[in-house]
Amino acid sequence: MAAGRRRLFHLAALLSIALTSLTTLDSEQELQDSGFGRPPPRHGLPLLAWYVRDCVDNNMVALCDPIRGEYGFHEFKNRGPRRLLPVIKDKRQYKYYTVGNLHSAHADQLPFEVRRYYNRSDPESNKDRLVVRYNNNNRHIEQIYASAHYRPTETYMIGPDLVDSLRQPAANTR
Ligand SMILES: *[C@@H]1O[C@H](CO)[C@@H](O)[C@H](O)[C@H]1NC(C)=O
Repeated sequence: MAAGRRRLFHLAALLSIALTSLTTLDSEQELQDSGFGRPPPRHGLPLLAWYVRDCVDNNMVALCDPIRGEYGFHEFKNRGPRRLLPVIKDKRQYKYYTVGNLHSAHADQLPFEVRRYYNRSDPESNKDRLVVRYNNNNRHIEQIYASAHYRPTETYMIGPDLVDSLRQPAANTR
């Protein structure tokens, strides 16, 4: 009986790990295989390419200020019974910010490549988001997440090698 209960507990623990750990994409092949952000009218791929090229420098210091609402950035609260992203303990130093909703105020500042296929009547054209973990103290972006409308099974961590690769002009981001 006790052993059975213990086994159940282990199973529950394993399940909760499986449900909360997000896949890391760390190459263009993995990004492609994930299906994230493509094909058009989805905008996740050009959104991610724009972000790593124009919004962070080589040391991952933020060049686009998420706090001031440029490009439609706003805070991502990470609420709910099953939080999408790891819980932030030090909320004064770190916050999550999201960008990509083409309907947000200031989303018209996003480049044409990103807004190109936007159609208010077609939810597919506005389902992709980026969420970044921002360090207030040194303006570093500590992690980039890509998400199809915050669905846990379609939310990915973007690894450093993929960031580097997307910065290359030859990257396939169409
Ligand atoms: C926008 O999306 C709707 C619904 O899918 C579609 O019927 C319409 O043709 C689209 N408009 C354009 C300009 O693509």
